[in-house]
Amino acid sequence: MSNLIARCVDGVSAWVNERAPGLAPFYRKHMTEYYAPKNFNVWYYFGSLALLVLVNQIVTGIWLTMNYKPSAAEAFASVEYIMRDVDYGWLIRYMHSTGASAFFIVVYLHMFRGLIYGSYQKPRELVWIIGMMIFLVLMAEAFMGYVLPWGQMSYWGAQVIINLFGAVPKVGDALTEFIRGDYLVSDATLNRFFALHVIALPLVLLLLVVLHLGALHEVGSNNPDGVEIKKGPKGNRWSEKAPADGIPFHPYYTVKDLFGAGFFLTIMAFIVFYAPTFGDLFLEFDNFIPANPLVTPEHIKPVWYFTPFYAMLRAVPDKLLGVIVMGAAVLILFLLPWLDRSPVKSIRYRGWLSKLLLTIFVIAFVSLGWLGMQSGSELQKLMAQIFTVYYFAFFLFMPLWTRLDAVKAVPERVTMHD
Ligand code: HEM
Repeated sequence: MSNLIARCVDGVSAWVNERAPGLAPFYRKHMTEYYAPKNFNVWYYFGSLALLVLVNQIVTGIWLTMNYKPSAAEAFASVEYIMRDVDYGWLIRYMHSTGASAFFIVVYLHMFRGLIYGSYQKPRELVWIIGMMIFLVLMAEAFMGYVLPWGQMSYWGAQVIINLFGAVPKVGDALTEFIRGDYLVSDATLNRFFALHVIALPLVLLLLVVLHLGALHEVGSNNPDGVEIKKGPKGNRWSEKAPADGIPFHPYYTVKDLFGAGFFLTIMAFIVFYAPTFGDLFLEFDNFIPANPLVTPEHIKPVWYFTPFYAMLRAVPDKLLGVIVMGAAVLILFLLPWLDRSPVKSIRYRGWLSKLLLTIFVIAFVSLGWLGMQSGSELQKLMAQIFTVYYFAFFLFMPLWTRLDAVKAVPERVTMHD
């Protein structure tokens, strides 16, 4: 029996090979003959987890679309219908809403990995830049998705964010009208956000992810030591030409990533089944109230993943300047490969100064996230201002402090830690 199956598989692959001879080399280049450094640690799970969440969002999104109605009159009720009447509709919706937050958790950790191991440095600048484009599209995708249930927070969140474009001199009003497709956030806005959320942005996202991985596989992966394995000795048990410190991505890292996926899905399942709103963080309580243009919620705030940037916006008294600061906070990350002048990549071989400044940076960013959720007392505003200044100083003075930092000698070959 197994002989028969093997013969069938061989026959089919020979048939495919003859007709598409480019497929097998493609598979080898990206899977069995992609030699990744053998010293990957837990930080290297988040790329594959981001891929997993992307698939989750697309699949659950397609199923939600089957019963969702993109109209101001019906959207809220159609989501309630999905939650109460559609078979397993509640599960699909919670997987999608939890998936949105999980996406940002995973992507923030993925970016942080880049920060600690200098993965954006030469020759991976393009991988980082495409990653940043993904981050921008992801933010737009999440923002538009949040408007779709047409709850109070959907409506008023959209109102606040779209109005920010009104701060642009001269064309501000025309710009907000263009985005809304109306004089106020309305059915027309919901319709276009739906179109962008379900088809346009996911397509762009998929394309960017393919480019991201393509760019990475051209130069090869970095690793926790920041040692370029391609520059090291050659020859391992699979190939004489491959880097000695590289192992085939498949099966070694596919198996490792499957373990990570299992662990991650277990946590996801706990949240989906036991805490889908995650205490107002993943689904805000105000969004269980239908949108009402006549009643403003007491406290309008974005979902947690936007709050660090929202806190920066509120920290600046002037509206236009606030918008510029918020935009610059994201855009400055694009420049990271050129701001970092350190001769070493990994934090393991950097000095105390880098470690200290990075630790304060994490504290500042997380604190801004918390401040963005608060009502904004005078003290909180002052704290947000201090952390915003630190956020920018960290990047703007990076060319200086990365050069001042006393680095340690980097080993010739990658090291293995438990
Ligand atoms: C949908 C979102 C994303 C997906 C699916 C994704 C996927 C991946 C995958 C599968 C890898 C290889 C495995 C790994 O190194 O973890 C990777 C590497 C990388 N990604 Fe992403 N990524 C995403 C977003 C981002 C973002 C937002 C950034 C940064 C702005 C980024 C920067 C990088 C860098 C620098 C590497 C190379 C890391 C290294 O070799 O050390 N990625 N990405």
